[in-house]
Amino acid sequence: MRRLAVINMKGGVGKTTSAIHIAAGLASKGKVLLIDGDPQGNVSHTLGIRPTRTFEEFMGGEATFEQALLPNVRPNLDVIASTPAAFALERRIAGETQRETILHRRLRNVTGYSAIVMDTSPAMNLLTYNALLASEELVIPVGMDMMAVIGARQTLAGVSQLGELWPDRPLKILAVVPTFVHSGTYATKATLEALESDPTTAPFVFRPGIRQCIDLSYATASHQTIWEYAPRSRAAADYTSLIRHIQRA
Ligand SMILES: Nc1ncnc2c1ncn2[C@@H]1O[C@H](COP(=O)(O)OP(=O)(O)OP(=O)(O)O)[C@@H](O)[C@H]1O
Ligand SMILES: [Mg+2]
Repeated sequence: MRRLAVINMKGGVGKTTSAIHIAAGLASKGKVLLIDGDPQGNVSHTLGIRPTRTFEEFMGGEATFEQALLPNVRPNLDVIASTPAAFALERRIAGETQRETILHRRLRNVTGYSAIVMDTSPAMNLLTYNALLASEELVIPVGMDMMAVIGARQTLAGVSQLGELWPDRPLKILAVVPTFVHSGTYATKATLEALESDPTTAPFVFRPGIRQCIDLSYATASHQTIWEYAPRSRAAADYTSLIRHIQRA
């Protein structure tokens, strides 16, 4: 069972969009669990689901895995959703022992999935640490501006700190994914150059990445994946390539 987290401390870089498409894409080959580790709850909004039990209750132990699960949100795709109630989770778990590995322990007996995909907040907080320590592989979307590159560097620095504290839980970087790519613009050219000249990101850059595509916003607004909303769009083609890359890794 693969365990992937989609992460970047910078906000609005396409983490949720990527987590949903990676989960839905991998679901064509096997059962996938998507966990929304971000209290913004954007996964539910995007997939058009109304959660009754949530990630917060699952983490807090008030809901079992089965109770927190929303099965078959799409074929082969189950979800544990988040709501803004989970903003309180950070404070709630702050005093617990081994508070960084709660999710890892809660998922220990979960079987039957080919992959677990986790979306995270734009922050290196306790919930993000929980997602990272429950994962083995990382995907880092980077929007086409320098702040997103800085966010990716800070994220990778956080990941290597985590590696020093938990050497038994190594994390493999699957891909640094350029998003909102608009070739021909200065911002895209400069950002791609920055990613490819930085030794911490260069080996992982997935080219050409995910192009800027308005259909992705429309898909989000109509609670559909890009393959449902606009299967012939360039974003559908780009996310299909990313899935192939992940399947080969
Ligand atoms: N390649 C793209 N082209 C155009 N729009 C995109 C692209 N990727 C994502 N979007 C849109 O940009 C918005 C932000 O994307 P998304 O929610 O995935 O970012 P995020 O990194 O999860 O944000 P946050 O840090 O707040 O969680 C969404 O409305 C989404 O539909
Ligand atoms: Mg998000």
